[in-house]
Amino acid sequence: MQHNIPLYSLENAFDFAELQQWEQKWQRVLDGEIPDHSGYGCELKIDGSALALTYENGLLVRGATRGDGVTGEEITSNVRTIRTIPLRLNLDNPPPLVEIRGEAFLGLDVFEAINEGRSQQGENLFANPRNAAAGTLRQLDSRIVAERKLDFFAYTLHIPEPGDLTLPETQSAALELLQNMGFRVNPNRELCPDLAAVQAYFEKWDEARKKLPYLTDGAVVKLNDFGLQRELGFTQKFPRWAIALKYAAEEAPTVVKDIIVNVGRTGAVTPMAVMEPVQLAGTTVQRATLHNGDRLKELDIRVGDTVVIRKAGEIIPEVLRVLPELRPAKTEPYILPSHCPECESLLVRPQGESILRCVNSSCPAILRGSLVHWAARDALDIQGLGEKNVVLLVEHDLVKSIADIYGLTVEQIMALPRMGQRSAEKLVQAIAASQSQSYARVIYGLGIRYVGKVNAELLTQNFPTLEQLQTATFPKLTGVYGIGEEIAQSVVDWFRVEANQQLIAALQAAGLTFEQTDNSPNNVTGAIAGKTFVITGTLPTLKRTEAADKIKAAGGKVTSSISQKTDYLLAGENAGSKLEKARKLGITELNEAQLLDLLS
Ligand code: IVH
Repeated sequence: MQHNIPLYSLENAFDFAELQQWEQKWQRVLDGEIPDHSGYGCELKIDGSALALTYENGLLVRGATRGDGVTGEEITSNVRTIRTIPLRLNLDNPPPLVEIRGEAFLGLDVFEAINEGRSQQGENLFANPRNAAAGTLRQLDSRIVAERKLDFFAYTLHIPEPGDLTLPETQSAALELLQNMGFRVNPNRELCPDLAAVQAYFEKWDEARKKLPYLTDGAVVKLNDFGLQRELGFTQKFPRWAIALKYAAEEAPTVVKDIIVNVGRTGAVTPMAVMEPVQLAGTTVQRATLHNGDRLKELDIRVGDTVVIRKAGEIIPEVLRVLPELRPAKTEPYILPSHCPECESLLVRPQGESILRCVNSSCPAILRGSLVHWAARDALDIQGLGEKNVVLLVEHDLVKSIADIYGLTVEQIMALPRMGQRSAEKLVQAIAASQSQSYARVIYGLGIRYVGKVNAELLTQNFPTLEQLQTATFPKLTGVYGIGEEIAQSVVDWFRVEANQQLIAALQAAGLTFEQTDNSPNNVTGAIAGKTFVITGTLPTLKRTEAADKIKAAGGKVTSSISQKTDYLLAGENAGSKLEKARKLGITELNEAQLLDLLS
């Protein structure tokens, strides 16, 4: 869904100096003619998910996520379940059209409760409240959204058709208006006359935020006067009149109880510190990554050490430093194991890599990781097949390959510890439902190195049957626009391995989808469907990748070299040899405007 008014993001500042630079920057735009103004409105930056809410004649008619700022997802029925979002504005004469913006978020207690429930159901845990809020908003079942108790703080409004409403002329007045309309507005705001006051606000909340029942990752500083905001306008990406002043990633000290190694789905061995549980950025942390052998050596971390850990955004916490002055007597340096702790095969360190790997494809750790990836939301999306249940299935020898999950019975699953009949039935149903997931999701789910969601989409669109993909040669693969040499080699190598061929055969026998079906993008009808394009030169407005995405979305193909099979050459400025070759072969040339015409 296209936003009527784009949702901009904010430029970040990480310290006072950067804040001062921002002030100088906006003042320079005005060529030294800085009008008297009412200062800076400071608000907490709520760490959630932005929403745009449309009200017509006072009634909520649409709710949408931010998306990329230009296009978002329409999620009206979910938005209606948020109790702090009014369905009707509290105004006698509401404006014909108004759009409210703000942040949907989850309170810390609700977040903990959701993760507790997911852990009991064997589902993957959300990394932080922000991911949980974003995931909840995009839930298909609005009843689940209602149960999750999302909350909302409004922070701005746009009034394209004000009717009788008097338009606010400052951010502080806009927030008052939002409050009068019936929204929750964050009370921890302040109007600051200058940057020194902004700094004091920021520092006060760095400490005070720890007691808030929701997460904030900084302060948003906005010029309060809308007149000044209008004068300054926007850069390509940001408003010139606002900036986010971010808090440093949270750090906390704790004590190392153990050092273990984790073997991931690619066989990569990651050393991890197991620590006394500590609260950090809204979650209880017990494990932190030590990355690799080189980092281990550098830290010289030992069991018993007091360490400082850090959690930045969604990254797994990491050990930042060891506090040697607190090291107890008689500690031993930690040495990485030479053999896999899971399957005991010899670990290898490929040349030029800093990561140690287990290369035994039947290692249970690799199997567990592969299963968790297969079942993940953006892969086969099997609810109930999270880490916990995967561990159980592998530990009890019910599953020795991904394909084995398709033979599981309710009785087998019920026999597992702490598994009820209802959960077992649900899991079997969810596994069965995954058989009709798309070909692209299946290819992504296989976990081929470098084949993420986008590449899986590209591969399946260009090789619409398994037969075609399996037999695709290196030059054919690299001929696909967007598929580089590393990816192509990885695909060729993957299909050569006998164990992988067996897995594919078993998945085919289990009824998974291995070809593009009718409603896949390949079969879109229209002028472009099924046509092959080559793109060359610099286009006037679109990036080449954007043009390619548009063509593919309309069912066309994009390849990198001109041949008899090419239908169109999309040519921009400075088109070189491809244009010459296309002319020789009599291939139709298009410019960007003609392409957009064809698309519309
Ligand atoms: S104002 C044009 N105010 O931070 C300016 N944003 O990168 C619009 N956010 O996507 C943003 N609290 O979701 C504003 N009090 C606040 C905010 C806030 C959180 C988020 C917002 C935006 C992101 C900016």
